[in-house]
Amino acid sequence: MSLTENLVFHVQPGGCLKGTFRVPGDKSISHRSIMLGSLAEGITHITGFLEGEDSLATLEAFQSLGVSIKGPVNSEVTIEGVGMHGLKAPDAPLDLGNSGTSMRLLSGLLAGQGLDITLVGDSSLSGRPMRRVTEPLRLMGAQVETTGQGTAPLVIHPVKRLKAINYELPVASAQIKSCLLLAGLYAEGETTVSEPAPTRDHTERMLNGFGYRVRRDANRISVSGGGKLTACDIDVPADISSAAFFLVGATISPGSDIVLEHVGINPTRDGVINILRLMGADIEILNRRDVGGEPVADLRVRSAPLHGIDIPEDQVPLAIDEFPALFIAAACAEGVTRLTGAEELRVKESDRIQVMADGLAILGADVTPTPDGIVIQGGPLAGGRVNSHGDHRIAMSFAMAALRAQGEIVIDDCSNVNTSFPGFIGLARDAGLTISASEEN
Ligand code: S3P
Repeated sequence: MSLTENLVFHVQPGGCLKGTFRVPGDKSISHRSIMLGSLAEGITHITGFLEGEDSLATLEAFQSLGVSIKGPVNSEVTIEGVGMHGLKAPDAPLDLGNSGTSMRLLSGLLAGQGLDITLVGDSSLSGRPMRRVTEPLRLMGAQVETTGQGTAPLVIHPVKRLKAINYELPVASAQIKSCLLLAGLYAEGETTVSEPAPTRDHTERMLNGFGYRVRRDANRISVSGGGKLTACDIDVPADISSAAFFLVGATISPGSDIVLEHVGINPTRDGVINILRLMGADIEILNRRDVGGEPVADLRVRSAPLHGIDIPEDQVPLAIDEFPALFIAAACAEGVTRLTGAEELRVKESDRIQVMADGLAILGADVTPTPDGIVIQGGPLAGGRVNSHGDHRIAMSFAMAALRAQGEIVIDDCSNVNTSFPGFIGLARDAGLTISASEEN
């Protein structure tokens, strides 16, 4: 798509969601499967891989680093691991598109490779804070430069060795934690990261799956450098962050009854279920099982009246990507919902507090953004034209809002939906949303 084109969603008001579906694979787990599979000894076979632009950016980056990776074909990927020290210098900067996870995790994974590598991204990624990873990496002896504003491009210079550190994360961030654990694989000694609150632990679980020992002691996570990874098979669960749009859509639209299959319900990711249930949602967790070290279940969701709540701050890191969808739920609830302790939302793919507040205000909702959250008074939603500012999760959240709106919702700048949810329009239509897309200049 050329830069002047604007992918616009048009969603008709009303309707409800019905049926049984599987949303695409988990983005966080897909990224990590490529990273660890590439560094492992042996062949890693992945099923359920997310064929979205973000995880494909990671896949292509490792191909540029000399790893032979086949697929994805029908969400299957096969990686011939090169071992911990087998990556080769790429011919050109690695373009990570819109993907913060790729850039932050790769900065750590690549810092100790002894290679010259530059990481670049699109305009959104190039505006996001990167000192949160480069500063602790510098403490480990890495040389990773940012621009003067602390943003990408990141320029990684070879260093002789990395040394382990003991680091307290200033924010609850799985990306910083994972960056440092991946750098720690190459450091002399034991690297320990302490987190102020639990964040997604896919890196730790997957390192274990590849036979690498990770120690957890309360909020402290440690790895020792110098080990190796042994290839394994990975079944990527459906992404709870993609399921979230349907959890909210089915909950807010009377008459809905859906089942979302094979969804990852890792307890460091299930805040969206906990928060919706506190608001009165009817979500049943069926067929709980364990798939390659990650808990998975089918989720049955029926519509239910919601009421506003004060969102418990301990749920914020566990639902960090689901707030755009949760704000739509809050706008459809009776009473007031208050979110605090969520300033991180301002540095995601967009400023999710401001962009959601602007869009909800256009739809007639009573919203007050605050520095670290938002106050939303539930009430009727009108139709209107909103802008997602290139943020995939905001585009899909406003699409679901149409189920309760009184007029058509038109959403600008939706092409980045493909970063995390290829096939969203088709699946949403099958479920009952009256949605179409057009390209405008
Ligand atoms: C992610 C961690 C989260 C999340 C992002 C994916 C990951 O970011 O928002 O979409 O895969 O580690 P932070 O760690 O910055 O909160």
